[in-house]
Amino acid sequence: MYIEKVKNEMNLPETVRIFDTTLRDGEQTPGVAITVDEKIRIAKRLDELGVNVIEAGFPAASTGEKEAAREILKLGLDAQLCGLARVLREDIDAAIDSGIDYIHTFVGTSPLHREYKLKMNKEDILSKAVDAVEYIKDHGIVAEFSAEDATRTEFEYLKEIYKAVENAGADYINVPDTVGVMVPTSMKWLIQNLNKHLNVPISVHCHDDFGLAVANSLVSVEAGASQVHATVNGLGERAGNASLEEVVMSLITEYGIKMNLKTETLVNLSEFVARITGVKIPPNKAIVGENAFAHEAGIHVHGVLAKAETYEPITPEIVGHRRRIVLGKHTGAKAIKSKLDEYGIELTTEQFNKVYDQVKALGDKGKCVTDADLKALAESVLGRAKEEIVKLEGFSVMTGNIVMPTATVKLNIDGEIKTAAKTGVGPVDAAINAIQSVVGETADIELQEYNIEAITGGTNALAEVFVIMGDKEGNRATGRSTTEDIVMASVEAVLDAINKILIIR
Ligand code: KIV
Ligand code: ZN
Repeated sequence: MYIEKVKNEMNLPETVRIFDTTLRDGEQTPGVAITVDEKIRIAKRLDELGVNVIEAGFPAASTGEKEAAREILKLGLDAQLCGLARVLREDIDAAIDSGIDYIHTFVGTSPLHREYKLKMNKEDILSKAVDAVEYIKDHGIVAEFSAEDATRTEFEYLKEIYKAVENAGADYINVPDTVGVMVPTSMKWLIQNLNKHLNVPISVHCHDDFGLAVANSLVSVEAGASQVHATVNGLGERAGNASLEEVVMSLITEYGIKMNLKTETLVNLSEFVARITGVKIPPNKAIVGENAFAHEAGIHVHGVLAKAETYEPITPEIVGHRRRIVLGKHTGAKAIKSKLDEYGIELTTEQFNKVYDQVKALGDKGKCVTDADLKALAESVLGRAKEEIVKLEGFSVMTGNIVMPTATVKLNIDGEIKTAAKTGVGPVDAAINAIQSVVGETADIELQEYNIEAITGGTNALAEVFVIMGDKEGNRATGRSTTEDIVMASVEAVLDAINKILIIR
């Protein structure tokens, strides 16, 4: 709404190209390494989303990087496939050798990089940059040039080197905020002023050291940049890069920029990348986080149930997400009622009040209440709580430093007795592994959260175990148990949650 008041002050491009660097800068996330096969699978999904460029890696860095580029190329994707190269012929040759059609070449330009990293003067750096771009263009390949640490480089020198590579034939000029030091106003000024001197399209590459990567990318577009570098889930060096999903959705919904992207694949893509890289998506992450479309507070739930737009800027389906009404201490009666209606459970006012009080009481204890929990509560108030499907017949654990902690469990699953023995890092882990191995034969239910709390003191303290278990269909249930024996409490809590899930299925 208010954006309309300032749109005429912006120099918005018709469309914005998305240069995805998940497989290159994203892979530089500390602790992340992506195999060739995984890169291929991610590239296919990026292409399905419709990004314009996929930076597949740094071909000169290893044979695996080259192989990844070659294999992705074989897929014949619509996206252009790019490889990173320093302004060195051997790096460029490695990229050419991998067969790609787009090279992103870079060199540090800031005083810090010149003095401490490259030990080169301005003239030599400029001539290397020009030589690299000419060499790439001589091979008929698209050339994108980055002045690494551009945002800490003297403006006059930055203009000079960008103009020189433009004259050498560069197709895109990229402005990296390498250590994320820009704020939106300075970033806008920089792009506006570079734009006055350059004729080639300007691209930006923003890092998130101060949490401003997306904002800086967006103001760059306001200033006329027509390409943005981004990564899925904002992966990347240190605090990461601009998050692809946030950039894309802001450009489309806030600025109204037309982009040919299948945004409904964003959540799947994000979860897929999180699984492969092992970097979890924070629940409060914009667009793709588990809570991005979740509502708990009574006033919000009331509003959303009446008209989703009251508390949602976009519909979850646009990005492949789903709305969730979460029950907890802030929940109002309307939300609980709507959930019960969804399940076709009818309660008298008195029964409803009992369920409501129990949801609030659990919420006050800091516990969340899943749909399965609510159903179990309602069934028990109705006096028709179903019998447990999985019953514990017995269990034993062996622990110490001579043997691996080992647990044996005997379960009765719907009348059938099953036994398993498993090891673990400790007795609790071993016991949960043993239960999961037995239950896993019939139902794929995983432990998602485990918490233990001593509620009295001493070696015979009462321990309360709280778990959240979930299955592939998205059913989640909490389980809890309190005893003096932490292994027993864990076993009971896990079985409590498993039974709730099995009962609602
Ligand atoms: O952040 C950066 O400067 C980079 C360059 C290689 C463009 O990733
Ligand atoms: Zn970077």
